[in-house]
Amino acid sequence: VDESYQKTYKKFDEILPTLPKDKGWFSEHLVQYQGFWLKPRALLGALLINDHFTNPQPSDIILSTSPKCGSTWLRALMFAIINRNTYDFETHPLLTTNPHDLVPFFEGYMRRDGSYSGRVDSLPSPWFLSSHLPHSLLPKSLTSTCRFVYICRDPKDVFVSKWHFMNNVRPKELPPISFEEAFDLFSRGVSHYGPIWDHALGYWKASRESPETVMFVKYEDVKKETSVYVRKLADFLGVPFSANEEEEGIVEKIVRLCSFENLSNLEVNKTVKTTKVRPSVSNSDFFRKGQVGDWVNHLTPEMAQRLDQITKDKFQGSGLSF
Ligand code: A3P
Repeated sequence: VDESYQKTYKKFDEILPTLPKDKGWFSEHLVQYQGFWLKPRALLGALLINDHFTNPQPSDIILSTSPKCGSTWLRALMFAIINRNTYDFETHPLLTTNPHDLVPFFEGYMRRDGSYSGRVDSLPSPWFLSSHLPHSLLPKSLTSTCRFVYICRDPKDVFVSKWHFMNNVRPKELPPISFEEAFDLFSRGVSHYGPIWDHALGYWKASRESPETVMFVKYEDVKKETSVYVRKLADFLGVPFSANEEEEGIVEKIVRLCSFENLSNLEVNKTVKTTKVRPSVSNSDFFRKGQVGDWVNHLTPEMAQRLDQITKDKFQGSGLSF
């Protein structure tokens, strides 16, 4: 193993025990690092990226999200947009491959020796990666060079989505977490890459400062006008749809291909089998309802009000709202 990577590991081993700890959702605990709650593995990923991802290119694209805000969907849409001249819609890779296996997870793919596990370095440049890391934990060289798409979502729906996801993937050997306890953790920001509000604000500010390199979208808006956003994404990514493509209905084909109804009903995404890369998560876990406002079926009015109040307080004066 390269000596410079050993240095990062050493740093990780030294920092880890000094960090505040709280309860984890999918692991025993989360640690708080520079204001954000991370799984230790994600902290390691962040350190490795900071120390060793030294040569980002302007053509590299990173899809950033807080967990459960719509990364699966955006991975699919962006993959389909970027690669629309490579595949036809009848034999498209998205029909047989889960979006998570087509768009590698940045901080998860850094291996212990610091190299990327197989698939990332075999990807053609420009890289298209997905990440949950907060803007402030990424190296400046990267945030000032690559293009970012960020999707956020109403925290009430995120919490409900996350609660269901946790019930599917929380290791059985860990004690269960009740709905109320999960709500308390989430409200305090103790959830992966949380607080979700600070996470969103970091990218929101970046998008305001540099709209040509950071595109900020909301799940609710993409849901309402998907084809409008497919065009906006293509424009942002520097591959706008031509008049010919418009005539051929390519935008609508992409929207249909990536729709919740289509993706969630594909054989590959119905499988409950886990993969080596995601030992505790099945492809099917990434698809639940895919709707806006499902929180009404799960949160008490007091809970909803509490999250809305936090959202209002945190976003006050930023221009961002839900
Ligand atoms: P719900 O649990 O509310 O249904 P992520 O992909 O970031 O993990 O987020 C998961 C959420 O996105 C889940 O929300 C999931 O159902 C929803 N989702 C997955 N694929 C989608 C799609 N193609 N269109 C809309 N929503 C989708």
